[in-house]
Amino acid sequence: MFLLCSVNNMDWGMKNRLSQLVQNDGKALFLPIDHGYFQGPTRKLEKPGKTAEPLLPYADALMLTRGVLRSAIDPSITKPVILRVSGGSTILGDDLSNEGIITSVKDAVRLNASAVSLSIFVSAKYEHQSLMSLSRLVDECEEYGIPVMAVTAVGKELEMREARFLALCSRVAAELGAKIVKTYYCKENFEKVVNGCPVPVVIAGGPKAESELEVFEWIYDALEKGAIGVNLGRNIWQHDHPVAMIKAVRGVIHENLKPNEAQQVFDQEKNR
Ligand code: R5P
Repeated sequence: MFLLCSVNNMDWGMKNRLSQLVQNDGKALFLPIDHGYFQGPTRKLEKPGKTAEPLLPYADALMLTRGVLRSAIDPSITKPVILRVSGGSTILGDDLSNEGIITSVKDAVRLNASAVSLSIFVSAKYEHQSLMSLSRLVDECEEYGIPVMAVTAVGKELEMREARFLALCSRVAAELGAKIVKTYYCKENFEKVVNGCPVPVVIAGGPKAESELEVFEWIYDALEKGAIGVNLGRNIWQHDHPVAMIKAVRGVIHENLKPNEAQQVFDQEKNR
C-alpha cells in the first residue's frame, strides 16, 4: 500500500480524498483535460466534455479547471475531480511561468474537488512566485483536508526532462507539502526521481508520441521504478483511438500488463 505511514498521520478527510484518487492497488490513472487554461482550444480538446465522456469510465480521476468543469462536465459523474487552481499566463504571453492562484480553495470545496493541482516552475523566471503559491495553497488546503498535486512544469524546454532536474523539482514540491507530484518520465535514471521524492509520483506524457507502444513502455518502466501511475492527457485523447488507448494504459497500470500485452489490448480494442 502506498506510503502507509504518512497516510496514517492524516486526518480522515485527507485520507478519504486520497483514497478516491489512488486505488486499492496503490496505483492511479488521472486523465487531465486542463490544457486549454494556457493553450486555448487544444487539438481534440475543442469540446472537452465530449472528449472526456467516453474515457471517464476508465480513468480514476479527471483533472481540469473550474470553467470546463462547470460548463462541460455532467455534475452526476462519480469520478473524483482534481481541480487545476494555478494559471494566469498563456502561450502568447511573455512568460508561461508567471502563474498565480486562479481559483480559491472555497470554490474547490464548493465543486467537491478531491484534490487541487498547481504548476511549479523550477529554474524559470517566476520560480519563487510559483513555489510560494504552492506553499500558501498547501497551508490553506490542509485546513480543509484537500490534497495538493504539484505539477512540475518544464515549459517549452522539453530537453529539461532529465533525472537530475526532475528529481530536484519533485523533491522541492514534496518538501513544500504536495501530497502527490506530477512529473515527466525520463529514460535514464528515472528511479532517482522517485527515490528522492517522499510522496507518490505520477508521470505526464507531454506531446503525442510516435507510437502507442512507446507510451506503454514509458509507463511500464516508470511503474517498475516506483511511480504510482500517470496523469496522461494528449497521448490518450489526441490519439485516433482514445478509448483503446486508455484501456491499454489502464491495463499497464492496474493489471500489470507488459508493453507488448498492452499493445495487444490496444489492437483488439481499436477494431471494435
Ligand atoms: C499541462 O499543462 C497540464 O497540466 C497537463 O495536465 C499535463 O501536462 C499532462 O498532460 P499531457 O500528458 O498531455 O502532458
